[in-house]
Amino acid sequence: MISASFPGFNGYKMSYLVYARKYRPTTFEQVIGQKAVVQTLKNAIKNNRLAHGYIFSGMRGVGKTTVARLLAKSLNCEQGPTPEPCLKCESCVDIQEGRSVDVLEIDGASNRGIDEVRALKEGIQYKPLYSRYKVIIIDEFHMLTKEAFNALLKTLEEPPPNTIFILATTELHKVPSTIVSRCQTFEFRKISLNEITAHLKEIIQKENISISNYGIRLIAESAEGSLRDAQSLLDQSVAFSGEKVSDEDLKEILGTISRELLFETAETILKKKPEQAFDLVEKIVNKGYDLRFFHSELIKHFRDLLLVSSVKDTKDLLTLDDSETERIRKQIENISSDEVLHCLNALQNGEQGLRYSSHPRIYFEVLIVKLCQFKNIVPIQDIIEEVKALKGKTGTGAQASKKDSDRESKRGENNAGSVLYAKPVPDEKKQNRLKEENKNSVLKEPKVEEFLNTFKARILSVNKEEKNQ
Ligand SMILES: Nc1ncnc2c1ncn2[C@@H]1O[C@H](COP(=O)(O)OP(=O)(O)O)[C@@H](O)[C@H]1O
Ligand SMILES: [Mg+2]
Ligand SMILES: [Zn+2]
Repeated sequence: MISASFPGFNGYKMSYLVYARKYRPTTFEQVIGQKAVVQTLKNAIKNNRLAHGYIFSGMRGVGKTTVARLLAKSLNCEQGPTPEPCLKCESCVDIQEGRSVDVLEIDGASNRGIDEVRALKEGIQYKPLYSRYKVIIIDEFHMLTKEAFNALLKTLEEPPPNTIFILATTELHKVPSTIVSRCQTFEFRKISLNEITAHLKEIIQKENISISNYGIRLIAESAEGSLRDAQSLLDQSVAFSGEKVSDEDLKEILGTISRELLFETAETILKKKPEQAFDLVEKIVNKGYDLRFFHSELIKHFRDLLLVSSVKDTKDLLTLDDSETERIRKQIENISSDEVLHCLNALQNGEQGLRYSSHPRIYFEVLIVKLCQFKNIVPIQDIIEEVKALKGKTGTGAQASKKDSDRESKRGENNAGSVLYAKPVPDEKKQNRLKEENKNSVLKEPKVEEFLNTFKARILSVNKEEKNQ
C-alpha cells in the first residue's frame, strides 16, 4: 500500500491513499472507456497471438500504464497466461505493487540516451528470472534520442524470446515511423465527460465525501478527458476542504478562469468597446492565463450565452449555478441570439490561427477588436419589415426589393440564419467617390508620405468614418 502523509492547509495533517493509486483498475473489466484496446488484448492473450512490441498512445491519465501492468499480470500469472489474472499469486501481487523483477518500468524522459538503451539491451539478454515473460514498459517513449531509437530498432524487430515491449507515449507523432511500423499501435481515447462524472461519483460515495453535482461536473470538466487529473483534483479538493467540499471552495481550487474576466471580455465585445481590448488582454496575461486556454473558455462562455438566449429551460444543459445563469441572462439583454451566434462563429474561426500564431497576444487582441467592430446585427425578419415599410413610403419598390433580397440571400449563404446589418447603402458611386477622397487626403499627410517612401508601400484602401452621411 502506498500512502501519503503531508500537512494539509491550515496545518491540518492528513494521511491518505492517493485516489489515483487506490482506484487503479486491477482487472481489465474495471478499465473505463478503452473498449477496443482491452478487447483486442484479451483476445490476443487468449489465442496466444501476442506481438513483440506494443505502442500505447494517448493523453496523460487515460490508462496506458494501467493496461500495460494488466497485460504483464495476465502473461505472468501463475494460472496464466490468462485475460483474468488471479491477483493473488506472487507474480500478480509483485506486479500490482510495482516490484516484479521481470516487469521493468522505465521512464523514457530521464533515460533517453544511447547508454541507457545499451544497458537495457544487455539486461534483456537473460531469461526472465521468475516469470514467463519479461515485460519492458517504457513511458514517455517519444523522449528518446535519435541514437537511442536506432539502437532499439533491431531489438524490436527480433527481441529475445519471451520479451515484450510496451512503449507508452503522449506524442505518437514524435516516434519515428521505423519504430511504429515494427509495433502494434493502440490509441487510448480521452475519457468522456459522462464516464469521468460517473467514476467520480463512485469514489465520492465510497469515500463519504460530500460535494454537489455541480461541483462534480466542474471537476470532470477541468480534467479535460484525463481520469487521473479528475482523481487528483478530487484529492486536492478534499485536502483543501475536508470531506465537505463546497462549490465556492472548488472554484478556488480549480483556479478555473475567473468568470469575472469572461464576463468582462464578453461585455467588451457585446457593448462594442474596442478601446478596452488592450487593457483587458493585459489583465488576462498578467493573471497568468494561457491565451489559447482563455480563448477556449471564452468560446464556452459564448456558447452559454447562446444557449440562454435561445433555450427556455437550460437546467440540464448548463454547468452554471442559478446566480450565474441569471448573470448570463443580464449580459444578453437587448442582444439578439443572431449576434451571439455571429460572435461565437468568429471566435471559433479564430481558434486555428491563435494556435499556430507566433504572436498569440497580438492575434488575440486583434480578434477582440474585430469582434467589437462587428456592425449591429438584426434579425432578418426585422430587415424585411423595414424594407416593406420603405417600399410603401417611397414607391421605388421594385429596385429596392431586388437589391435587398440579393443582399439577404448572399448573407444567408455565409451566415446561417444571421445577417450583418449594414446601414442603408447610399448610392454606390457616391461611396466610391468618398473612399477615393479619403484615400487622397490620407496620402497627403506627411507621416504617411514618409512611410510610403521609406517602405515603397502602396495603400490599397482606407477605412475612415464617413462624415458626410
Ligand atoms: N481508463 C481508465 N480506467 C480506469 N481508471 C483509469 C483509467 N485511466 C486512468 N485511470 C486512473 O488514473 C490513474 C493513472 O492512470 P495511468 O494508467 O497511469 O495513466 P497513463 O499511463 O495513461 O498516464 C490510474 O491509477 C487510475 O486510477
Ligand atoms: Mg503512465
Ligand atoms: Zn496470478
